[in-house]
Amino acid sequence: MSAHLVIRNARVVTCDPARGGLGILDRGAVAITGGEVTWVGPEAERPGATREVDAGGRLVTPGLVDCHTHAIFAGDRANEFAMRAAGKTYLEIAAAGGGIGATLGPTRAASDDELLALLAGRLATAIAAGTTTIEVKSGYDLTVAGELRLLRVIARAQQRGAPRIVPTLLAHLVPPERRADRSAYVAEICDQLVPQVAADRLAASVDIYCDEGAYTLAETRAILGAAKAAGLPVRGHVGQFADLGAAELLADLAGLSADHLEQISDGGIARLAAAGVVGVMLPGAAVQLRLPVPPVDKLRAAGVALAIATDLNPGSSYAEELPLQMWLATTHFGMTVEEAWLGVTRHAAKALGLPKVGTIQAGGPADLVVWSVDDPAAVPYRYGSAARLIDTVYAGGVCQRGTA
Ligand code: NIG
Ligand code: FE
Repeated sequence: MSAHLVIRNARVVTCDPARGGLGILDRGAVAITGGEVTWVGPEAERPGATREVDAGGRLVTPGLVDCHTHAIFAGDRANEFAMRAAGKTYLEIAAAGGGIGATLGPTRAASDDELLALLAGRLATAIAAGTTTIEVKSGYDLTVAGELRLLRVIARAQQRGAPRIVPTLLAHLVPPERRADRSAYVAEICDQLVPQVAADRLAASVDIYCDEGAYTLAETRAILGAAKAAGLPVRGHVGQFADLGAAELLADLAGLSADHLEQISDGGIARLAAAGVVGVMLPGAAVQLRLPVPPVDKLRAAGVALAIATDLNPGSSYAEELPLQMWLATTHFGMTVEEAWLGVTRHAAKALGLPKVGTIQAGGPADLVVWSVDDPAAVPYRYGSAARLIDTVYAGGVCQRGTA
């Protein structure tokens, strides 16, 4: 049977683990039918197709996977950016009434349609920069009804098509108005919100911010325990400011990912590696908040798979484009170009529990980027305004941008 479309004369970066490294095929071709890749191999052996596109020897890669975003919020915190530029720290600003708490008011006040429009605008920017799969967390309402509302708006965005959205329930913080009785609030999350989210299938996993100024380890254990009991996989914001022991907890719970990791012990690293938990690097947030670089050398040596994400949020990283994070990962985090690519493709998909996504292989989704450059290093090298390096983005076999 002939394919709907064959992209030929391509430098195919398959990211297929069976091929090793980035799995690059020079003079390669990719066949697509419907929403799936049906064949990938040397172009001389390509199947017949209704239509062929000549990639001109340039890169064809998996669509990028952004595995950590807080893309649904209203308002901004440019004032905090200016305060940090003048020397204040993120934690000082948060303690003085800024931080996550400052985004709750505008988000709660926004209508569903306003939130959907804001989210859709960010998704459009992301897809133009090559993102075909994006995780979106709740976490800027922090009431039971409000968090359910955010997840329902995310589900509406998902119905509109590309990019593929992976929704996450995020226990971000105990909101200021509930701090007098934290345990009652945590019980509400465990007994009401998590079971409701699971019953309505509103999230693919539950995330929690376990850190100084956010949730304690005991609260984290309770909330992630409730998630597991409801059948939901777990992940965590771990060690951005302080190592509270959440890496070890996530390893115990067979978590999908541990994100940030600026502060993590050697023991915590060993536990993540042994449990196959993905480490998610968020260089935009770390550099902007002037945090120490995570111990990438130790994580690599231990065999922790490293993903890279934007952390798109109004506080620490207001940025939609993954190639810019690839630049920060290579220039500031000591990651190689190969690690940068795997970090925004296969390893990011692993952090989301999505097999075959983030690779180009038969039976996987036809999520592809045709670039206007032919060297994998050129993408982080020519940082900023990634869209100018992109010819075409296919999501589920459907062309999102460009001429093809
Ligand atoms: O991942 N660390 C917690 N959450 C975000 C910051 C969110 C905010 O400041 O609004 C992060 O960096
Ligand atoms: Fe985050």
